[in-house]
Amino acid sequence: MCGIVGYVGDKQAVGFLLEGLSKLEYRGYDSAGIAVYDGQKIRVEKSVGRLASLQDKISGNMPVGTTGIGHTRWATHGRPSDINAHPHTDCSGDFVVVHNGIIENYLTLKEELIERGHAFKSETDTEVVAHLLEEVYNGDFVSSVREVLQRIEGSYSLVFMSRRDPGTLICTKQDNPLVIGIGNGENFIASDIPAIINRTRRTFILNDGELAVVKKDSIKIMNRRGEPVTKKVFEVNWNAEAAEKGGYEHFMLKEINEQPKAVRDTLSQRISKDGQTITLDELKWNADYLKSFNKIYIVACGTAYHAGLVGKFYIEKLARIPVTVDVASEFRYRDPIVDENTLLIVVSQSGETSDTLAALKESKRRGAKTLALTNVVGSSIAREADQVLYTWAGPEIAVASTKAYTTQLILFFVLALYMAQILGTKKPAFIADLIAQLKNVPAQISETLSDVEPIKTFAKRYGFNEDVFYIGRQLDYDVALEGALKLKEISYIHAEAYAAGELKHGTLALIVEGVPVIALATQKSVYEKTLSNIKEVKARDAVVIGIASAGDEELSKYVDHVIHVPVTDELLEPLLAVVPLQLLAYYAAITRGCDVDKPRNLAKSVTVE
Ligand code: AGP
Repeated sequence: MCGIVGYVGDKQAVGFLLEGLSKLEYRGYDSAGIAVYDGQKIRVEKSVGRLASLQDKISGNMPVGTTGIGHTRWATHGRPSDINAHPHTDCSGDFVVVHNGIIENYLTLKEELIERGHAFKSETDTEVVAHLLEEVYNGDFVSSVREVLQRIEGSYSLVFMSRRDPGTLICTKQDNPLVIGIGNGENFIASDIPAIINRTRRTFILNDGELAVVKKDSIKIMNRRGEPVTKKVFEVNWNAEAAEKGGYEHFMLKEINEQPKAVRDTLSQRISKDGQTITLDELKWNADYLKSFNKIYIVACGTAYHAGLVGKFYIEKLARIPVTVDVASEFRYRDPIVDENTLLIVVSQSGETSDTLAALKESKRRGAKTLALTNVVGSSIAREADQVLYTWAGPEIAVASTKAYTTQLILFFVLALYMAQILGTKKPAFIADLIAQLKNVPAQISETLSDVEPIKTFAKRYGFNEDVFYIGRQLDYDVALEGALKLKEISYIHAEAYAAGELKHGTLALIVEGVPVIALATQKSVYEKTLSNIKEVKARDAVVIGIASAGDEELSKYVDHVIHVPVTDELLEPLLAVVPLQLLAYYAAITRGCDVDKPRNLAKSVTVE
């Protein structure tokens, strides 16, 4: 997610803009910029890299003026560069905008604006908004901005500045945060409370669709229809550290709760308007291209590897192409069978994992075509791969990966459907039905997040066990692997996942009275088999927590506790079943007093072998 700041008052704007952006650095970004109105024109200064690069660029020649906006960019469309950094302007430089989110219809708008003579400088979706304002501007700043908002689609928080309307900022939001800080003879705008908390704790929190006209001595808020809205002042009582976590105790919990939005954002632009087909404009594959491969590898590490296992299941189930999944640290040392008929798919949240990058380079050297699924635009893996599909999860700060995992799953599901469409391995009606269920997943994740109390109770009751087992079959087994890793890496409990049918081949020897077993039973096609495995462990007096689909009353007869997740196609159940496992790991780590966001011995991105 990008960072946004705005200032209007009697002081030099640049002071707050740089201070505010520095308070947002923790979110991760790849470039920064500011724009300040100096009484005649708007001066824009921006730079790829850290905020310090921007400060170096303007030191000794600071922008002068008391109205300004600023931005730290987390790239989604257009690589990290000076020209792609925000703020963005129209052709004349009279209108300037900063943006957080995704303008879904930007390509259509850009084509229309180019036809009308607008000259674009950047690769971003955001720049369209500045040119659109120039196109529709009728002398009235507010009504012109409202006209722009009528034409753009997607998720956004936006702040507009106009040379023709000095001393005024207009801001609005849809599905992205934006707060207004109420000062004395000055007012502040920010995407996140940490940016303003040192200046004021009195804020207005904008709701979706609301628009605010901010001057140094007035804040006027209106709804989508332009009708005035009266807002209560929200007093921020968080300290600076809590504010960075959006009020959550840890980044991990914040990111677990960001999953509905992360999944929704990752799906945006990838489903056709009529909801019937998948559109992956980034790939532009055809049947001949896909049929040219006789092998597909998915290679990754850790959680990304677990996502790859689910990706294998999806591609084989829907596109009927065989897939081999391997951990990157093993793959390139086994002299893999890789040539020009191989498609290598690498998965990496950070895009910097050394083993994964090395596997990618080795496969390219052997002639493979390569596709990267990553969360970081411009990362080493993104730049090395032939093609890239981005998860749009926003920065993931906690070492334990959560929203990256669910967005990787969503991306694999979309990719497998896309391949099935191209190859005709699934009928259009079948694909359309899965897409309809896919669109419900963000809301279903929210529903799953709405009742954490039972999970907190389990974590308190079993959080001091030293051994926990996770079992499941098929996709439930793949999710069990991820659940076990989450528990291990943040609570330091020894946790292992087993294919439920494998227990009797050895592991059952470890199941004795009181041992906690997390049993996933969401896959209807193997439900009865899983149930018999659950009975096996119950017969040894294990304590069993079942994860089941809503409405499943059978399971509760055989286990000690059940956590239900919403019903969806069994292919999509992993996106829901993983959520209670993430929360179980989180609350177990809390119970044990562990450092949730920075667990011992681990790093967020493993850039060494
Ligand atoms: C997951 O919770 C861990 N932090 C770790 O396994 C991680 O998934 C792995 O290091 C891969 O990182 P990447 O996705 O950035 O490549």
